[in-house]
Amino acid sequence: MLGNFMYCNPTRLYFGEKAMKGLRKELPKYGANVLLVYGSGSIKNNGIYDEVTAVLAEAGKNVFEDPGVMPNPTLQKMKEGCALVREHEIDLILAVGGGSVCDYAKGISASAYCSGDPWERYYKRHDKVDNLIVPVGCVLTMAGTGSEMNGGSVVTNPDENVKIGRVFGDNVFPKFSILNPKFTYTVPKYQMVAGIFDTMSHIMEQYFSDEDDSASDYIMEGMMRSLVHSGLVAVDNPHDYEARSNIMWLAAWALNTFVECGKTTDWEVHMIGQAMGAYTDATHGMTLAAVSLPYYRRIMPYGIAKFSRFAKNVWNVDPEGKSEEELAAIGINAMEDWMAELGLVMNSRELGMTEDMIEGIADATFLLGGGYKKLTRDEVIDILRESMEYTGDRIS
Ligand code: NZQ
Ligand code: ZN
Repeated sequence: MLGNFMYCNPTRLYFGEKAMKGLRKELPKYGANVLLVYGSGSIKNNGIYDEVTAVLAEAGKNVFEDPGVMPNPTLQKMKEGCALVREHEIDLILAVGGGSVCDYAKGISASAYCSGDPWERYYKRHDKVDNLIVPVGCVLTMAGTGSEMNGGSVVTNPDENVKIGRVFGDNVFPKFSILNPKFTYTVPKYQMVAGIFDTMSHIMEQYFSDEDDSASDYIMEGMMRSLVHSGLVAVDNPHDYEARSNIMWLAAWALNTFVECGKTTDWEVHMIGQAMGAYTDATHGMTLAAVSLPYYRRIMPYGIAKFSRFAKNVWNVDPEGKSEEELAAIGINAMEDWMAELGLVMNSRELGMTEDMIEGIADATFLLGGGYKKLTRDEVIDILRESMEYTGDRIS
């Protein structure tokens, strides 16, 4: 049964090869001062910077730049961005990049005028934002996180070894997002497959909760089937427009609050992955890949009906003559094969995790309990150890 929910997504989305026209339409709605936020410079190499700045110039904007947003943006960087917003009395923050740049833009949007310490108030205590919120727009260059159409902002504080994802309300969602699948053609394969798995993980975090006949689960099964197929096509041919557009569209819908409607949701893989990310600074999607197999194999016995359904409806496993337990195990094996074919990193040592980090990562992992089994701290430690020992030989 679907639970109670309110659904609203205020982000206006412009999608397709001509999506940049949307930027022309949106810019006149905001004041003159624009903060152009971007990462380490990929947009200068692939021409997206030139396209965006040409549209900004045409619209007569005063453009102030805030480059250098790193993957897994830090609190220190966010404080610098907040100062720029105040100094230049920014009217619109325009994020041009992947999830890190979009998350950072939302972070400074909510935090620039915060009375008090935004890290303590908004990220650690999850206080309601009670100050001026500077509007954000996104030009997305990499698919995966869904940040382009949600209120999420994940920030790392290296001093505390913590990475926290704050989910802000509707008023911090991007006002608009420009999604041109061709902009993702230049994303390196490592980042592309990490993004694909991030999207898969978002869907699984919402799918693997509750035992019912929710329409949301059928929608998610369709999304996962499309992602499994399109992911492999994009690995073979990164310039396959259809695959790249499917991936981009699926990433937005996997985490824009729609498929969670009426669901309890899990998010434990993300809790462990984020804690690992705080210690290693590894690519987000890869931390999820390293944790997922040991996690799902561990909780499978507690949600066996759903795991066998996953095998049949997502991985086309023929149920003939198989028990639910056998089906469930074959489904996870099929996912493992797909992950290997994409080229994901599934051993956390390769992501920089070392033995001495295990206790700290376990302490930094929030134990949520929305999935089929609430983990104990010891189980988190077991999962982390298994992720370090992964060899590719079938565990089960
Ligand atoms: O630094 P730049 O030049 O932008 O290069 C980036 C970066 O090195 C590069 N890249 C992006 N688009 C490119 C490109 N390179 C060539 N051509 C392009 N078109 O890719 C690298 C990774 O970028 P990043 O933005 O870090 O990746 P992603 O989109 O995966 O974002 C990861 C961040 O999002 C958070 C993660 O924790 C992580 O901090 N998440 C945000 C969520 C949300 N807002 O809802 C949910 C997710 O679960 C996730 O936690
Ligand atoms: Zn994620």
